[in-house]
Amino acid sequence: MGVSGVGKSTMGNLLSKKLNIPFFDGDDYHPERNIIKMSKGKALDDNDRKEWLQTLNKLALKHVTNKGCVIVCSALKAKYRDILSTKIQQNSKWIFLHGSFEQITERINNREGHFMNSNLLKSQFDILEEPENAIKIDISLTPNDIVKVIKKELLEKTAFGLFGLGVMGKSLSRNLANKGFKISLFNRHVAEQEENIAVNFKNEFKELSTALPFDNIASFVNSLQAPRKIMLMVNAGKIIDTVIEDLLPFLSEGDILIDGGNSNYNKTKERFDYLKSKNIHFIGAGVSGGEEGALKGPSIMPGGAKETYKYIKPYLEAIAAKDKNNLPCCTYIGTEGSGHFVKMVHNGIEYVEMQLLAEIYTILKYQGNSPDEIATILESWKETTNSYLLEITINILRKKEGTDWLVNKIMDKAGNKGTGNWTTISTAELGVPSTMIASALFARYTSFYKDERVAASKKISSEASSKLNITNDNLLKAYQFARIINHYQGFKLINQASISYNWDLNLSELSRIWTNGCIIKSDLMVELVSIFKTTDNLLTDNLIIQQLKTLKPSVKKVVSECVLNELAIPNLSESINFLNSFAAANSSANLIQAQRDYFGAHTYQRNDEDSGKFHHTKWI
Ligand code: 6PG
Repeated sequence: MGVSGVGKSTMGNLLSKKLNIPFFDGDDYHPERNIIKMSKGKALDDNDRKEWLQTLNKLALKHVTNKGCVIVCSALKAKYRDILSTKIQQNSKWIFLHGSFEQITERINNREGHFMNSNLLKSQFDILEEPENAIKIDISLTPNDIVKVIKKELLEKTAFGLFGLGVMGKSLSRNLANKGFKISLFNRHVAEQEENIAVNFKNEFKELSTALPFDNIASFVNSLQAPRKIMLMVNAGKIIDTVIEDLLPFLSEGDILIDGGNSNYNKTKERFDYLKSKNIHFIGAGVSGGEEGALKGPSIMPGGAKETYKYIKPYLEAIAAKDKNNLPCCTYIGTEGSGHFVKMVHNGIEYVEMQLLAEIYTILKYQGNSPDEIATILESWKETTNSYLLEITINILRKKEGTDWLVNKIMDKAGNKGTGNWTTISTAELGVPSTMIASALFARYTSFYKDERVAASKKISSEASSKLNITNDNLLKAYQFARIINHYQGFKLINQASISYNWDLNLSELSRIWTNGCIIKSDLMVELVSIFKTTDNLLTDNLIIQQLKTLKPSVKKVVSECVLNELAIPNLSESINFLNSFAAANSSANLIQAQRDYFGAHTYQRNDEDSGKFHHTKWI
């Protein structure tokens, strides 16, 4: 591509000969009416061009499955290139022949029998939208050198780089390679600890036969086609900044870094701004699904500049899981750190979903069931209430080691890597009562005090008295109730962030990309896709309201029975406590306001007037 006179046909012809693939000149494919129009000296408009560009796209599609081909076309606007590369984004490469106005005028005028109308050339420069995702070639090089550069870029360089070959990095690399992408792999060299990781990994899997392995940053970066697309799969935290600094000296303007870890969204914004000042694009992408998801199809939540997303979309959407309509579970989320924010809330929701299952397990165990028996009960819940976390819990409960179940041998101290903590901080900062996430986080923290718990249990706990007066159906309904409140609170937090940070997030799309590939995929999530098309607030949906009303008696029963028998069920009880507070027309906050006014003159508003005026009382 490039303006008239830049040498497209000459170079295209030469390149096709060197690569031994067919050559097509786009100008030969105009429909009859365009030819008539042009012969009358009239300029083509975008409508005229559309059919022509679609014809060229069909031509490319036909050849892409064979040896490929070279097509030349001025393709000056991004939207023309979008039509030309429809459905072949990942198998096509733009080569932009680039020269200055003066350079091209001089060239054309030197050609025998050729005269370029400088106004026409000028108008082409005016409409030219330079592509960022192209191999940019300086036309002052000789034709042979140009072909050499293009061949090197096309044949020796790769399309996408993976930096960091931990569990997730490795799985994503294999996923990309399985989708036909030529990739570069990097893992650092640490003597006697991490040696030849990339080479050994490449040799282990046949799908990586075309991948290029490195442990040298400069060679890794140079192996990538411009603009370079590098996904960082290293641990979240300070290490991301170190890696960015290590990469920066070798990157060029327009290159794209994607952070695929669980980074803090505030940090992602800072990194975005920092890299912007260096003309490097930065995308913060949440990736969910663990090792298996990363390999077979994760759910991906990329945030950053929308224009940048265009260049990585073909890769991310190809490797993502697919929803029930076969659409990728990956979509552009929004600007700044919004991708990492929604991944963080995903994890907050995940904490609650896990905690609820842990509470159900506690109750069923207390009722005298073995892990296998609990698994059988949970298995029967799949029909109405299935989720990935329910399924893995069933598998976990069935796992035996020797004669005992493995779960019985696992120390009851829950770890965490920070996302639940950040979600709790965000929900407090944004003033959203996502109380279940906070409660699930604190349940993990409480579990951590193992020694103190053991001591306290001897001194403070009462002996278990009786069995709980509840049925398994009560338990299932309580679980369903609490899950609805969890999803209400999680999405409420996302919606508030969207408003406060101007992210314009689409809750229905978000739930759609969480229907497969991720840890919180569930039947309920599938229901939410259509509900969020009509409301941003789950508690205004009639179907949800009806469900809560039906389920409420069970959660009340389960929670009260557990409290009476000293069973810890912080998330189940939080779900009903939250709804009791939320669905109360008159709360006790009048007394809080009076107390605030009493000791701090913080003022209060009155029920018996409409002015909204604030009052202060001299209380004594
Ligand atoms: C996912 C998981 C994943 C990871 C969490 C676990 O969506 O694939 O959420 O990101 O398992 O980091 O977090 P904790 O260690 O805090 O439980």
